[in-house]
Amino acid sequence: MCGIIGYSGPLDARKILLDGLAGLEYRGYDSAGIGLCMEDSSICVAKTVGKVKALREYCDASVRGTAHSGIGHTRWATHGGVTQANAHPHRAGRVTLIHNGIIENYHELTKKYHLEDKLVSQTDSEVAAWVLDSLYDGDPLEAIRQLMGLLEGSYGFCILFDDQPGSVYAIRSVSPLVAAYTRSGAMIASDLTALIPYTNQYFVVPEGKIVRLTPYKVHVYDAVEGFPKVYPEIMTVNWNMDAAMKNGYPHYMMKEIHEQPEAMKNTILPRITRGLPDFSDDGIPDQLFSDCSQIHIVACGTAMHAGMVARALMEPILRIPVTVTIASEFRYEEPLIDEKTLVMIISQSGETIDTLAALRLAHEYGSPVLSIVNVKGSTIARESDYVFYTHAGPEIAVASTKAYSVQLAALYMILCRMALVRGKFTDKEAMDFLTDLLDAIPAMENMLAQKEQIRQIVSHIIQSPDAFFIGRGLDYAFSLEGALKLKEISYIHAEAYAAGELKHGTIALISEQVPVIAIATQQHVFSKSISNIREVKARGAFVILLTKESSVVDENLADIRIRIPDLDDRFAVFPIAVALQFIAYYASLGKNLDVDQPRNLAKSVTVE
Ligand code: M6R
Repeated sequence: MCGIIGYSGPLDARKILLDGLAGLEYRGYDSAGIGLCMEDSSICVAKTVGKVKALREYCDASVRGTAHSGIGHTRWATHGGVTQANAHPHRAGRVTLIHNGIIENYHELTKKYHLEDKLVSQTDSEVAAWVLDSLYDGDPLEAIRQLMGLLEGSYGFCILFDDQPGSVYAIRSVSPLVAAYTRSGAMIASDLTALIPYTNQYFVVPEGKIVRLTPYKVHVYDAVEGFPKVYPEIMTVNWNMDAAMKNGYPHYMMKEIHEQPEAMKNTILPRITRGLPDFSDDGIPDQLFSDCSQIHIVACGTAMHAGMVARALMEPILRIPVTVTIASEFRYEEPLIDEKTLVMIISQSGETIDTLAALRLAHEYGSPVLSIVNVKGSTIARESDYVFYTHAGPEIAVASTKAYSVQLAALYMILCRMALVRGKFTDKEAMDFLTDLLDAIPAMENMLAQKEQIRQIVSHIIQSPDAFFIGRGLDYAFSLEGALKLKEISYIHAEAYAAGELKHGTIALISEQVPVIAIATQQHVFSKSISNIREVKARGAFVILLTKESSVVDENLADIRIRIPDLDDRFAVFPIAVALQFIAYYASLGKNLDVDQPRNLAKSVTVE
């Protein structure tokens, strides 16, 4: 969480930092601030509660003079409320600092360095700033090295020292930072969205190193005596600014919903050879699939829901145990995994802290780790034994849409290859499976064309404080994601239930006009699902039914029916996902909420 950026170069630092923060805002938007090293070498700090737009207006009105270096921050509050004092940058003596992460031992440091009377905020970050000021005697590298030895927790810092004009220092532990030297100057940021307008070449800041930006260079030093220089590997990013713009859509979420067919093609097609799944370009060996005795999928949020779909699909085909665990739980359990367990990590950002910790725990148990990741070069990708990159391009809206579809596509392809390798699929069956997967793409396009019809439906949902999503088998797994989408951007309390479980308690919550979004696409449990829908209808629920075009249902069963194209049951999730995304999108819009940046959330969850 939190987006940070640093710049040193010939251009107007204020503009570069504010533009960069706008690109990073999806990482948190409780407050924003910049620290500028002005031409007279003074430090100017400007910060406001609220979004980058408010900061820009404040700067336009209040900041005078020119700066060619500085740091910027957009905050997702962890320690201390959403206030001006808690906004970054923090000034501490000769130090001005911004922080992404959590300093766990900030209480101890406060006591050890007698900071109680100095602190003006409630943040852990300000404590780090004062400790650094205490350690500073004119040698920034040495002071930062000592600070690194004292801190526990996660951090990405950008730092200005009053007496080092033009230099921006940065370090990181766990929290991400990428840096680049560009024609416009030296830059560093939490992620590439801030750098991409200036360059497609960057490097990932290595942990334990100290970065110094000057107007003409980016220097990287090892944090040991003598501070030898290091030269991180330069990487090239293969998407451009267009991919990170709204391109005429009113919201990123709407754009990203529409990008799903393309993202699916980009993820699937390069991995098909003569009709069969082929991961040789990914360097994923068949032995990984043949040797394992169980699969353990670990992820958070939407990515975990993709795992739930995969589990429901994989076990009946592979006939080995497939477990799905929420990463924040997994990391504190003693999981039943070993070197014969294939641990599959799913993460769009590749930076989710709980998921990363789960990956590291899996390695401690000797399990091979295959990750499904969207962001190239992210920490999870780098630390995994094998990576299956999804090719969704940048996903900016906090609510995940296209990342979910391509995570599913990746899981379906992995299942197909695994079934082939383990003798559960013949070549013909694997080819048919992939053909069905490709057929899901026009089915998604069909759903995109139904958006107007779905827009009309949500007026029935947004009047209610609650909504329920029900389904059986795979349909239940799809429901989980539908409920998450609706609650996170419309703030309607939404829950997903296995339809057969309702009568064991939850049906007590069903009353007149409560919206129930019922999904019934799975033939083998179809009649059972229909009975469950009747049960809620009989209690007055307002039923929105999602079924296949050809499914025959009683006219009175549902108040509204959304028809998805006829396709093999196992692939119904793809058009269903689109329909559920539209329901959430239009509900948020109907309530006049911030679709792309819902309250209390951030795109990349890099704190525990
Ligand atoms: O980047 P990740 O896939 O690891 O993120 C995991 C979750 O935080 C994420 O899927 C979250 O649930 C979505 N933004 C919800 O739409």
